[in-house]
Amino acid sequence: MLAKNDTKFNVAVIGAGYVGLVISACLAKLGNKVISVDNNRKKIELLKSMKIPNYEPGLENLVRENVRRRKLEFSSDLKRAVRKSDIIFIAVGTPAKENGEADLSAVERVAFGISQALDAYKLIVEKSTVPVRTGEKVKETIRRYAKGDIEFDVASNPEFLREGRAISDFLRPDRIVIGVESKRAASLLKALYRPLKAPIVVTDINTAELIKHASNSFLATKISFINAVSMICEKTGANIEEVALGMGLDRRIGKEFLAAGIGWGGSCFPKDVDAFIHIAKKTGYNFRLLEEVRHVNIFQRRHFLERIKEELWILKGKNIAILGLAFKPNTDDLRESPTLYLINELLEEEAKLRVYDPQAMNKAKKFIRNVKFCRDSYEAVKGADCMILATAWEEFKNLNFKKIKTLMRYPFVADGRNLYSSSQLGSLGFKYIGIGK
Ligand code: UGA
Repeated sequence: MLAKNDTKFNVAVIGAGYVGLVISACLAKLGNKVISVDNNRKKIELLKSMKIPNYEPGLENLVRENVRRRKLEFSSDLKRAVRKSDIIFIAVGTPAKENGEADLSAVERVAFGISQALDAYKLIVEKSTVPVRTGEKVKETIRRYAKGDIEFDVASNPEFLREGRAISDFLRPDRIVIGVESKRAASLLKALYRPLKAPIVVTDINTAELIKHASNSFLATKISFINAVSMICEKTGANIEEVALGMGLDRRIGKEFLAAGIGWGGSCFPKDVDAFIHIAKKTGYNFRLLEEVRHVNIFQRRHFLERIKEELWILKGKNIAILGLAFKPNTDDLRESPTLYLINELLEEEAKLRVYDPQAMNKAKKFIRNVKFCRDSYEAVKGADCMILATAWEEFKNLNFKKIKTLMRYPFVADGRNLYSSSQLGSLGFKYIGIGK
């Protein structure tokens, strides 16, 4: 895959969360020497013993392989990592504050740490999703606290990795965006990414930062749009899946991210849409479109629950099975998962819940109370008056519905991800509701 003359770099990636760990392992795979740094010593110890904190397909093997090849190491020593590296990625968390604004204190802390370690030219790259103009602040911070007049560049290189497909998204990207201020920074990043042979969009730093927020907000808008159309479908008897197909084949629209469901969650869309609304407000622009996008998303799960209630009448004492806890398949991430909303509301109504997820159970057990965690889907649906499909895991696609029918008290499937066909389940004697059909 690699051309012989590809340049290899010493790279530090600060932050060993979802994003940091994936880019560390992938950059190591490309032949660079990577130090993955985190100030959480416990996490670093775990990683050193090859325990990956989050489920991401393929990641554990990639980490093992590159540690063995001595291309990847873990450390909590920021200073040493900075000094040993040519390129330093900042990939720490930027969680949302109460008002939607991104909390950039971790980014500042890392910028300060880098300033203290700076001993020769370094390229410092923001990977974390940050509001436009953060690059300027990072530069200011490093310049202010650095000891001596040492040359450095700051760049922005937003990530477009989807959880659950992060490694292939990294290795086969649609595009790479680099926001730079100098030719030196541009050529370093171009050389780093050359092996991927992907289109590279070179911009200034502010533009690159904005591309990230605009991209995530646009994708969230696309989903909310199709979810809004699903409401019209429900009222008119049209079929949302066919509408999406008919729209998506137009290349200007595109097929992806047109799957109607109980809405978007995760650690990115909710936070980034909020942050973008906040950023716009600060510039004096009221991004009402995005406020509505957020509103549609919340309405979607409420409406789904209303429809379940309509069918079951009284929820108190009803047995409800929930399949899928993670915010989407192929991850154990529960952050902002629409399922958490459903669980809270159903418990509020005193329904009895039996839940199952192929990967997210351990994480869920740490904070979800008053539900029965089940070994598999069949245990979850035992005695149920309703089976809610909340996450479109592959293993839920091929359930044995004949068996499920015998296990449930009332054969009712509420399909929050349009995973099943209403005619198929109907012919087996199930009451079925999907989204927009
Ligand atoms: C998203 C973006 O897709 C990535 O490009 C970006 O890098 C990442 O955020 C980030 O900022 O770090 P991710 O949050 O992992 O990635 O998940 P997506 O695959 O985008 O799904 C987000 C949510 O939308 C999920 O809850 C999913 O179920 C929902 N979704 C997605 C739909 O409801 N319908 C669709 O058609 C697609």
